[in-house]
Amino acid sequence: MNLLAGKRILLGVTGGIAAYKSAELIRRLQDQGADVHVVMTAAATEFITPLTLQGLSGHPVHLDLLDTETESVMGHIELARWADLILIAPASANFIARLSQGHGSDLLSTICLAAQCQIAVAPAMNQGMWANAATQENVRSLMTQGTAIFGPDEGLQACGEIGEGRLLDVAGIVDLTIATFPNGKLRGCKVVITAGPTREAIDPVRYISNHSSGKQGYALAEAAIEAGAEVILISGPTNLAPPNRANVIPVTSAQEMYEASMQEATGADIFIGVAAVADFRPTEVSRQKIKKDKSGSRVTITLEENPDIIASVAALGDGPFTVGFAAETSHVIDYARAKLAKKNLDMVIANNVSNQEIGFNSDENETTMIWGNQEQTLPIASKRNIATKIVGTIAEALPESHAHD
Ligand SMILES: Cc1cc2nc3c(=O)[nH]c(=O)nc-3n(C[C@H](O)[C@H](O)[C@H](O)COP(=O)(O)O)c2cc1C
Repeated sequence: MNLLAGKRILLGVTGGIAAYKSAELIRRLQDQGADVHVVMTAAATEFITPLTLQGLSGHPVHLDLLDTETESVMGHIELARWADLILIAPASANFIARLSQGHGSDLLSTICLAAQCQIAVAPAMNQGMWANAATQENVRSLMTQGTAIFGPDEGLQACGEIGEGRLLDVAGIVDLTIATFPNGKLRGCKVVITAGPTREAIDPVRYISNHSSGKQGYALAEAAIEAGAEVILISGPTNLAPPNRANVIPVTSAQEMYEASMQEATGADIFIGVAAVADFRPTEVSRQKIKKDKSGSRVTITLEENPDIIASVAALGDGPFTVGFAAETSHVIDYARAKLAKKNLDMVIANNVSNQEIGFNSDENETTMIWGNQEQTLPIASKRNIATKIVGTIAEALPESHAHD
């Protein structure tokens, strides 16, 4: 997808080991359709050559402030005006200090001073430098000035130490960059999404669950973030990496998902229940592993109903716009309509899980959205694609009381 089509990004590269990652970052930003110009500090050129970044960006790299030739071609004020976003990645501790204090001592800091556009900073440094009180104070100051801070990550560092300060991974920086240009459909909305299966314990080692992969719920979380929403993702156990910028609440059982949902749904604008919540749980959970005493022995597990999450959210007075999923294997539309009415939902999304191609674990889906007196079928497509369409339809169906833009 070209989520940065037509966007002009001025990439500032400063002096640190992670400067080599800026080469990959340029490519990935271009993949999304961005036009990237590069400005390097003098220290950055000791870590990666301007020639490399010039070759990748397809533009001359900007290096000097006090240079008559470059200033006459595209000077610092023009560069500041040109950019839709100034992204500094990696940002050294030294540069963060200069930026927070409004220095104009080199080309990059001077451009930042002159810029009217959003500035984003992806710090990368030794964990001690990051934890230092002066750096933390500088970062706080940047945040209050409206600068976006991307990361940092934690883990093993080039210096051999382990801690917080690593440059956020390139994909994460690209996601956050995209999110600084929200398409605005859900700007200012709080969206709560449940995803994945739940596990209902039988004993300490066994549980009852289902085949839900969480893919559709995670794709919806990504699409809602892209549409500018604040997303709370209440997730049962999955093998998926959570989308950047989603606030993830991990849960295991239906009861835990219910409690987290009721807490987060209060004050939310939209609730999308995608999780395949177990309808029943064992009435009693054995404290010890249930043993097989003799061959042919039988065990009876009595089940009781779990709370109905989506119906409880829909019943909240002044609650969110509530969207349920109906995963069915037969009479899909009829059952989905019945669910819409019985649970008092605002919208239901029906999908046929009897077909392996579009079932729980696949990357594709085919759904029918039903709301009010309307019905729209989304033909088979990737779950991510379906998610974007669902989010777009929800945004249009959202009553004034829940819309913020
Ligand atoms: C080998 C080496 C690696 C360095 N790595 C980092 C780093 O990852 N992060 C950082 O903030 N500073 C790092 N520094 C220190 C900066 O290069 C130094 O503060 C420099 O003045 C930054 O200049 P700039 O902010 O203008 O790019 C490193 C220095 C050396 C010698």
